[in-house]
Amino acid sequence: MTAPGPPGRSGDTRNQGDPGDAGGAGGETRPRTEITTPEAIESDERPDASLRPQRLDEFIGQARVKESLSVFVEAALGREEALDHTLFYGPPGLGKTTLALLLAGELGVGIKLTSGPVLEKPGDLAGLLTNLPPRGILFIDEIHRLRPVIEEFLYPAMEDYRIEIRLGDGPRVETFSMKLERFTLVGATTRFGLLTAPMRARFGVVERLGYYPPAELARIVTRSAGLLDIPITSGGAEEIARRARGTPRIANRLLRRVRDYAQVRSEGTIDSATAEKGLTLLNVDEYGLDEMDARVLKAIIETFEGGPVGLASLAVAVGEDAGTLEEVYEPYLIQNGYMQRTARGRVATRKAYERFGYALPSDRAGSEGGAQGALFGDDG
Ligand SMILES: Nc1ncnc2c1ncn2[C@@H]1O[C@H](COP(=O)(O)OP(=O)(O)OP(=O)(O)O)[C@@H](O)[C@H]1O
Ligand SMILES: [Mg+2]
Repeated sequence: MTAPGPPGRSGDTRNQGDPGDAGGAGGETRPRTEITTPEAIESDERPDASLRPQRLDEFIGQARVKESLSVFVEAALGREEALDHTLFYGPPGLGKTTLALLLAGELGVGIKLTSGPVLEKPGDLAGLLTNLPPRGILFIDEIHRLRPVIEEFLYPAMEDYRIEIRLGDGPRVETFSMKLERFTLVGATTRFGLLTAPMRARFGVVERLGYYPPAELARIVTRSAGLLDIPITSGGAEEIARRARGTPRIANRLLRRVRDYAQVRSEGTIDSATAEKGLTLLNVDEYGLDEMDARVLKAIIETFEGGPVGLASLAVAVGEDAGTLEEVYEPYLIQNGYMQRTARGRVATRKAYERFGYALPSDRAGSEGGAQGALFGDDG
């Protein structure tokens, strides 16, 4: 064993039995109800709507994405045309839905919302498409989950603004083609890798959203606090931002929880000390890691002796689908220096060992320089 325990930090027990974790029955996919989960949870929904930026210039961060969107919007408006079909992808909670909604505002057009799993038959989609106003937006969330029949139906709509309607079935089926108004399909997905090639090819604009640096998250927290009438200092906003896992949704959630704490335990203002105490009480990781992040890193360290370990084995060890692991969880860990992808597999970095209070295995401890470079080498 190269991973001498026991881990020295409190909070590690969370991962053993997870008594607080809902959905124990079946044990298949456990809903992640932790406060730092990047996915939307029930208590988010109403407040989130009021915090969503309505216009592009209220949208903080993602400068490159904003810049290109504003160019495309201006061009489409200038030509009085529909915006090209647009795809947003990236981990949960980074603003994909928000961008889709605010595009409608920027273009001054109506928008209809649906999502991949909701569309069961072509008729569902036909109804939405035929009811769109000229140059309107159809937003399909979780577009990687479209059924193949729906996808087939969508292709001519996207390409030629035309749908094939089938009447009746069996040998007496009749099909006719129906013209649509020009429209913009906006798709969002956390799993770009699951989109089919023909689907990807039909988007003229493809934008990836990445994690927000702490300074941008702090601006988001400050903006949200203003909207919610919460007094906050810049230090307080920074403290929340640092622990929000690069994710605006988590930042907003932490803000509301710390507000409760500040209201009860201090004068009501969130300064950095209040934020710190509140977040510690809420058991929010001071490094911004969530429960799944911790599980992944500990699996590499404990089960695979620090790695390298292949994606498939790691996925089995943490009970998550390999593609989700790769596209949704790993990017944060890699960007933040907890994990590296090498030619031979995933490796836990020194930072990961330190985070969980493990001693670096002796065969790595002394190898800061050359050897470490080889072992931890980045192959992209
Ligand atoms: N750039 C931003 N500036 C300010 N607030 C933001 C920004 N991006 C996201 N938010 C906030 O974060 C919340 C979550 O964003 P959103 O719902 O758009 O994420 P998403 O990428 O669609 O997530 P999912 O993949 O789970 O659907 C929004 O309600 C909004 O309040
Ligand atoms: Mg969304």
